[in-house]
Amino acid sequence: MKAKILALLRERGEYVSGQELCQRFGVSRTAVWKAIGQLKKEGYHIEAVQNRGYRLVPETEVFGLHELESRMDTGWAGRPVIYYDELASTNLQAKLDAERGAAQGTLIVADMQTAGRGRRGKGWSSPAGTNVYFTLILKPDFDTDLTSMVTLVMGLAVAEGICRTCGVRAEIKWPNDIVVGGKKICGILAEMSVEREFIHYVVIGVGINVGKQEFPPEIAQTATSLWQECGRIVSRSQLIVNVMKAFEDRYGTFCRDGNLAGLMDDYNSLLVNSGREVRVLDPGGEFRGTSRGINEKGELLVEREGGEVTAVYAGEVSVRGMYGYV
Ligand code: BTN
Repeated sequence: MKAKILALLRERGEYVSGQELCQRFGVSRTAVWKAIGQLKKEGYHIEAVQNRGYRLVPETEVFGLHELESRMDTGWAGRPVIYYDELASTNLQAKLDAERGAAQGTLIVADMQTAGRGRRGKGWSSPAGTNVYFTLILKPDFDTDLTSMVTLVMGLAVAEGICRTCGVRAEIKWPNDIVVGGKKICGILAEMSVEREFIHYVVIGVGINVGKQEFPPEIAQTATSLWQECGRIVSRSQLIVNVMKAFEDRYGTFCRDGNLAGLMDDYNSLLVNSGREVRVLDPGGEFRGTSRGINEKGELLVEREGGEVTAVYAGEVSVRGMYGYV
């Protein structure tokens, strides 16, 4: 009920009488009063004025379960949300929950991580009160060879979610880093449990730099945050909700087609290295060429000198721009 009261107060933006709240939610005045008291304790500034009712004063963001639930307007992605003030890693928690039977769509969110994981065995800096760390649980029933494409679907959803939330143009550095102004703003780490041809689960972890104002000198040239790019505080909850909405929509298309054909054009239009010269760091030997976008399997097409096109598979290689990170 707290999330519903919160959603109503936010939507109205003005006073809502205690009586209306009681009638809408079929509860007593005492129950409304208690719920308002708890929301205030969580940090919401709610004004109570006699004969007028309650009003939510828009201020600094409160991040937590009720904030997320009150904004979530998806069908299945991000339902339920399980929120933690602190976790070792949302990916680790999601894997435990998936093994214990958590349903597709379950979203694990943390305000901070003590052991955030990045790709290639690296860590992911996860301080409290500033950024976004979440992991979505999927229980797909498609072929195992489609699993690697799910991270590309999430990459597209994050780029779209960022744009929808704060109007900034976010681009994709294939396969799944999201960049703004040529600097990395988000990383995605998918992990899965597969047995023979059966997918037990896929968990997709996303870390987005939202409120971070400064980065250590060694990454300041390659990392950025939404605060740095739009100069204002961006609602972490609304950002998560917008990513979930975009993901639900894009994942539906992907599952229907059984490939990325229906998403390819939009993905390629956001691809930061499209048409640019790239260096492909292939374990079999480094080579150079011009990036021509992805195909329906999510492979990057790289045109070499002489016109031969090589399809590069994300699991095997990494791609660098000729003059830096993108
Ligand atoms: C990368 O190295 O680019 C991927 C970083 C992924 C970080 C996110 S934060 C939420 C989720 N939980 C983790 O431990 N890692 C991912």
